[in-house]
Amino acid sequence: EKGGYDWFMLKEIAEQPAVVADTLRGRLTETGEIHLDEMRLSDDDLRDVGKIFIIACGTSYYAGMVAKYAIEHWTRIPVEVELASEFRYRDPVLDRSTLVIAISQSGETMDTLMALRHAKSQHARILAICNTIGSTIPRESDAVLYTRAGVEIAVASTKAFLTQIVACYLVALYLGQIRGTKWGDEVSAVVGQLQEMPAAVDKVLDTMEPVRELARTLAEADQILFLGRHVGFPVALEGALKLKELAYMHAEGFAAGELKHGPIALIGEGTPVVIVVPSPLGRDSLHGKVVSNIQEVRARGARTIVIAEEGDDKVVPYADHVIRVPRTPVLMAPLVTTVPLQVMACEIAAARGLDVDQPRNLAKSVTVE
Ligand code: F6R
Repeated sequence: EKGGYDWFMLKEIAEQPAVVADTLRGRLTETGEIHLDEMRLSDDDLRDVGKIFIIACGTSYYAGMVAKYAIEHWTRIPVEVELASEFRYRDPVLDRSTLVIAISQSGETMDTLMALRHAKSQHARILAICNTIGSTIPRESDAVLYTRAGVEIAVASTKAFLTQIVACYLVALYLGQIRGTKWGDEVSAVVGQLQEMPAAVDKVLDTMEPVRELARTLAEADQILFLGRHVGFPVALEGALKLKELAYMHAEGFAAGELKHGPIALIGEGTPVVIVVPSPLGRDSLHGKVVSNIQEVRARGARTIVIAEEGDDKVVPYADHVIRVPRTPVLMAPLVTTVPLQVMACEIAAARGLDVDQPRNLAKSVTVE
């Protein structure tokens, strides 16, 4: 049942190209349009959306953080991403023109469900992005778009995360399409990019053996820090969460730009720091800034583990280890950069003699608040 893998988690990581493809299937037309009729929200409702809240917990929350970048960029609708457990306790401003997107793999997370019920009581429209057909969250929502990750058995979420990002992107493109903020050619260009992602993820998986070897050398570290910017920031948070969950190791993710505002004090001789580097072709010279961050942490003794695009040579002088991922458009990068972080966490936990699929104190679905 583990299909030759040591852990369900490794099997589920390996399934990612297939589940990304499954989540796209039937939702894109030949001409590069998005079809989400199954979603059950009328185009009129969607045209009136003035504000989006994304509510979720844990890894699903990080998928929401990634989605915010794409939704705002493609639709110009303001998006807030909020931890479901915090959402209803601060009296958020909600009305009929608010779209609340609840992201949940299990569809049973109590915090997310309670946040959704609160939003509903304030007349917001609710769209669930969920992996479990017929579960409570989609049942209580106005609309649902299912991710097609298949059953996730390992407690730590992996393949669900990638499909949640893809599903959010489909919703964003659909909103852009019907509201006219993204038109024909633009939507079909992004559709083309999405369609290339299963092969790109496959390519990352082919190069994971050195990452596993590297991970084994990190098993005794006291802490591992993760840095990223833009969509690489939630990826850094996700990398740290996987490591906490599986390896019981202190791990933190930071926005790289925040380093000098505090976290750089954590770095001592030999502290492993994983840096998710944005594409050198991206906007706003973020690449150069992150390369400077690599240099800064290394000057303070960090052991730098750099996740960078193929062909990005600027990182090489400051990297103790480089993990290569295929070149992708900026917003697609999380689908490839997350994968080595999943593999690392899995391997570090295994090297520490821990049960990767059943970490202590955790349950697959958290049905209490
Ligand atoms: C992390 C993990 C958890 C879940 C969180 C939300 O690996 O599995 O952080 O992501 O409990 O669960 P769902 O998506 O089922 O609402």
